[in-house]
Amino acid sequence: MAHLEVLIPRERIAQRVAELGAEISRDFAGHAVLLVGVLKGAAIFLCDLARTIDPALDVRMDFIGVSSYGTAKTSSGEVQLTKDLSEPLAGVHVILVEDILDTGVTLHFLKQLLLARQPASLKLAALLQKPDRRKVAIQADYVGFTFPDEFAVGYGLDHAERYRNLPDICIVRE
Ligand code: PRP
Repeated sequence: MAHLEVLIPRERIAQRVAELGAEISRDFAGHAVLLVGVLKGAAIFLCDLARTIDPALDVRMDFIGVSSYGTAKTSSGEVQLTKDLSEPLAGVHVILVEDILDTGVTLHFLKQLLLARQPASLKLAALLQKPDRRKVAIQADYVGFTFPDEFAVGYGLDHAERYRNLPDICIVRE
């Protein structure tokens, strides 16, 4: 039977998310910013991150959906838009919020898609990154944790849609 091993406990996640929120608050002081979460994995990170940003900032939230085809644990490199944003991006400062930057294929696809809509600026935030697995040259501007090549679940991350609700980031040991 599979068991879960805690890799990043909830307290460390909360502390790091608050640091990212403080950094974003400084970088965007005096501006409105739109957080764009990539469904579904980034939903929990985005909601926590939004609440650590200085309340004086005009923060808006939107979500975009993509699916990548492949096996449960690896993406095939083919990305499709499954849900578009509800508002236009022209002239808006945007932070694209991802739970994990793995091969980079998803963020690269989304970056091109959103840049074509001419935002005032576009930054990338990823809670986790696995630099060893990168197939596309792309870097996040805000990174929570750099991570070994292990399959993580929890805090939004799933395995076959399960475990997204775990408060800690965990490894599934078979
Ligand atoms: C995960 C993650 C990123 C993508 C990163 O999404 O949320 O969107 O994979 O991988 P990449 O850098 O190799 O492109 P997933 O397809 O598991 O969907 P989910 O967010 O709904 O769990």
